[in-house]
Amino acid sequence: MTSIQTLLPTYASINLTALAHNLSCIKRYLAPDCQVMAIVKANAYGHGVVETAQALARQGIERFAVASLDEGIALRQAGLSTSIVVLGALFEEQISDLVAHRLTPVVSDAHILPVLIKATQSHPAPYPIHLKVETGMGRLGFSPAELPPLFDERLLGGPLQVEGLMTHLADADGKDSSVTERQLETFGAVLNQIRQRGITLPFVHTANSAAIVRFPHAHFSLVRPGIMLYGYHTLPDTVPAPDLRPVLSLRTTVVQRRTIPQGGTVSYNGTFVATRPTRIAVLPIGYADGYSRRLSQRGLVLIQGRRVPIVGLVCMDMIMVDVTDLAPVRIGEPVTLIGQQGEESIWADEVAAWIGTIPYEILCGIGSRVPRLYESD
Ligand SMILES: Cc1ncc(COP(=O)(O)O)c(C=O)c1O
Repeated sequence: MTSIQTLLPTYASINLTALAHNLSCIKRYLAPDCQVMAIVKANAYGHGVVETAQALARQGIERFAVASLDEGIALRQAGLSTSIVVLGALFEEQISDLVAHRLTPVVSDAHILPVLIKATQSHPAPYPIHLKVETGMGRLGFSPAELPPLFDERLLGGPLQVEGLMTHLADADGKDSSVTERQLETFGAVLNQIRQRGITLPFVHTANSAAIVRFPHAHFSLVRPGIMLYGYHTLPDTVPAPDLRPVLSLRTTVVQRRTIPQGGTVSYNGTFVATRPTRIAVLPIGYADGYSRRLSQRGLVLIQGRRVPIVGLVCMDMIMVDVTDLAPVRIGEPVTLIGQQGEESIWADEVAAWIGTIPYEILCGIGSRVPRLYESD
């Protein structure tokens, strides 16, 4: 028996057709001159940063954003020549690497500006930077009062070009839109003060996925979708759901079967006790692969197109499921943890709901030892 199941028992398949579909869906919310900066941080939300970015570049995306210097360098080293913005805070010691790889920093604090100026002094063209203003997320950024006067100082001249002004919305997927409206108002006031100084900002951006759908006036000239690219949203029920397709499926394979008697236990600490003679299938995926231990006794997987429960504690490398109610299960039989099998499906938002988290965490958490396979419809 040689098949994908036996050569690669556990893998994530990434559907690049679904990714392209989601990008088109996002674009339908935008004015024709509004650009997309694809958020591919955290290994493209678990989808594999290089292949995802390359697939999006083939779809015409020219701007990407990552969280850290390392993520940006990985993309450059893979040959991506587009704009790559590093969203996270940078230390002085990281600036020479940043500039060597032509990565665009988001500056959230003035202390880094002299270091950037020094590092880019001999750069042939003005070096692009984005400035971040903090308007309610309570995270990175200049305070609204601090930012406009910076333009009166020499700090922003010289080799640096302020290519973008941004903020991050804290509650764009919340039920009440007033928090977002207040943030946008604060941001708008800062933007006006900067424009009144005669400064042109090529890119003004505030909108994550939820704001793309809900707040058209937050789009400005660039939007920053993450989760919608990957096929999910966390919008309230009152908002018409966007037409998205989940991109990632997580699959594994039965590696052993056993029957345990009534009273028999499964996994560490015997938390599952069989109430009937029970057929168990062992699956080679565990919390080291990102399948959370909180799914113990709670999660479901698909075998033979039917939902079966995880029994006992999720181990580091294995889980066990109860297949008593299925037709006899073979070794090598395919199992879907996230995705579609037959008529049934389990997607990352459902897995997230089982353990009180969000699909972001489920997707980002898929471990580095899980191979990603790329396919198109
Ligand atoms: C600054 C910034 N912009 C955009 C995004 C994308 O958000 P979402 O995945 O909700 O679209 C993120 C993700 O957390 C972010 O940190």
